[in-house]
Amino acid sequence: MVHLIEFVSRCEHDTLRFGCQLAGHLSSGDIVALKGVLGSGKSVLARGIMRGLGVSGAIPSPSFIMVANYKGRLPINHIDLYRMEAPEDIETIGLEDAIFSEAISIIEWADKIEYLLPARTIRVSISPCKDIDMRLITIESLDANVKSRLTSLAIDILREKVDANSRC
Ligand SMILES: Nc1ncnc2c1ncn2[C@@H]1O[C@H](COP(=O)(O)OP(=O)(O)OP(=O)(O)O)[C@@H](O)[C@H]1O
Ligand SMILES: [Mg+2]
Repeated sequence: MVHLIEFVSRCEHDTLRFGCQLAGHLSSGDIVALKGVLGSGKSVLARGIMRGLGVSGAIPSPSFIMVANYKGRLPINHIDLYRMEAPEDIETIGLEDAIFSEAISIIEWADKIEYLLPARTIRVSISPCKDIDMRLITIESLDANVKSRLTSLAIDILREKVDANSRC
């Protein structure tokens, strides 16, 4: 799959900010599937997206309860499947009802439910780099509507880079 966006984050703040920018292009019912090794920054990015959607206050990790609900400009499900052990957990926590709803679902360890994810899923991968604080964040989706929304995100990011360079 061709990456719609490739973003190099140099620190936690960059990732938070990128999440905030991504949030501006999300719509009701979107599914954001986050993939990346332990400590790569999935929760940081999820927090950035939720801040961008207007969630204030603490955003604790939902790794024990697996699904936490928030209300920003839209309802949000923050899902963390790290501790999901058996497929039956999907029913216990009401995962399908959560992700096929009006809410925006942000899913950490989404690779565990790959088979449930529809084509319109926004797939975000975070890869640590040699530099300890650097991450490569890539985004892809198969859906034409999502692609067009993410193209405008890519343009926003590019515009910011051009503005920053022109100030140098
Ligand atoms: N560029 C960066 N982007 C995001 N986090 C970064 C970056 N540089 C350093 N960090 C640090 O990496 C850690 C990322 O932690 P985080 O909990 O978000 O990872 P995670 O992928 O959710 O891990 P887990 O799989 O355990 O849930 C934080 O301590 C954060 O400060
Ligand atoms: Mg996490």
